Amino acid sequence: MHKIVVKGGSRLEGTVHISGAKNAALPILIATLLTDGVHRIVNVPNLADISSTLSLLGRMGCPSLISGDGQEAVQEITIDATNIAFCEAPYDLVRKMRASVLVLGPLLARKGYAKVSLPGGCAIGNRPVDQHLKGLEAMGCTFEIKGGYIEGTVSHLKGAEIHLDMPTVGGTENIMMAAVLADGITTIHNAAREPEIVDLANFLRSMGARIQGEGTSTLVIDGVPALRPSRQPYSVMGDRIEAATYMLAAMMTRGSITLTGVPVADISFLCNIVKEAGGQIQMHNASSLTVSHSGPITPVSVVTAPHPGFATDMQAQWMTVMSIADGSSTVTEKIFENRFMHVPELARLGANIQTDGRVAHIQGVSTLHGATVMATDLRASASLILAGLVAEGQTEVLRVYHLDRGYANLVEKMKGLGATIGRFASSETVTL
Ligand code: EPZ
Repeated sequence: MHKIVVKGGSRLEGTVHISGAKNAALPILIATLLTDGVHRIVNVPNLADISSTLSLLGRMGCPSLISGDGQEAVQEITIDATNIAFCEAPYDLVRKMRASVLVLGPLLARKGYAKVSLPGGCAIGNRPVDQHLKGLEAMGCTFEIKGGYIEGTVSHLKGAEIHLDMPTVGGTENIMMAAVLADGITTIHNAAREPEIVDLANFLRSMGARIQGEGTSTLVIDGVPALRPSRQPYSVMGDRIEAATYMLAAMMTRGSITLTGVPVADISFLCNIVKEAGGQIQMHNASSLTVSHSGPITPVSVVTAPHPGFATDMQAQWMTVMSIADGSSTVTEKIFENRFMHVPELARLGANIQTDGRVAHIQGVSTLHGATVMATDLRASASLILAGLVAEGQTEVLRVYHLDRGYANLVEKMKGLGATIGRFASSETVTL
């Protein structure tokens, strides 16, 4: 087990390159199951979840090759999806990464059968998949749930009108990946609008899929008999959540950070909030901006919502910024039922936060104080690192395997911006 130790007080300055988006790369890698042949995907972030996905595909009979020496933040992946020998996503893999459930759509579309472990809950909520199954059933699939597994079969998928109860990202992705090979037209109403859905649609279209409406609430997919690997390597979009984390690091440390490789159009909502809180933003082009902050941080309350609203994946990080704001604010989490586990850890650093159900009431304090804290989930771990950047003294964040799921080379990137930070064995005594 490792920990990240950070010493507060450095103003972060310089340029950081944002890696490919985890939440786009995962469905895109899984979508390669839809066709036989060899696929090349670039700008794939070097993350634990990517490794888990590649080992899942490998165990299904689809080997992959990774470029580079495994030290870079991004890599090129080659996947050979010619022979799917096993149509199963086993519990030991799914429990580590619930996005494995996304193999349902492609397997049912390509092989007519899938056996996937129920993903189970995770730290932030019980994460059901009822909408995934509802959409696939509408397309002719039948499911049996036994022994903790979902077993699905279909003779041939047919297009359907599907109305989602909520704009589920994974549900939209699973249904979309089935619909591209279905017989006829599938319309998904109340579809998720996240940029990662748009990236997946672009990837599927590069393989010959016929999709319209991605990025809106209504997706129309005209099924085709077969797809083929895209002729050019496909480049995954930049990670807007990683970008947000570095933008907020600039604010908190009163520094100035230029981001490159960032999908600027996809973080406009956050840019407005940063400016409302007193940050300065300079847009350079569609993939680069500079965030700087001097003076007090104005409190700005947020409510998480599906895209284009304030992303739930930025909630914990924003709460850390508000913990040192010049006044009080609230953060309301409307997407997941248990996504405040960073609150008691931030309190250990001196933050003044009271939670009442899904609403956190934050009273900004002038100083945070370094301490040992525990990462509980991916974005919570990022919020604790941000706090450590400004806390007086040294902060040790334990269980950083959570962080490794979503932030490629964070320590190297933060060091490059001037942070006093390092990664150590949990048992090591460290003084930075
Ligand atoms: C994706 O998870 C992301 N993960 C999450 O990012 C992100 O927080 C989430 O979307 C919301 O934006 C990936 O893309 C790999 P949902 P997903 O289905 O697809 C309920 C991170 O930190 N729901 O949109 O699982 C569900 O309980 C991760 O990078 C149902 O009720 O999210 C939740 O309350 C964390 N039934 C809400 O919808 C269903 O069938 C949103 O879930 C499906 C979802």
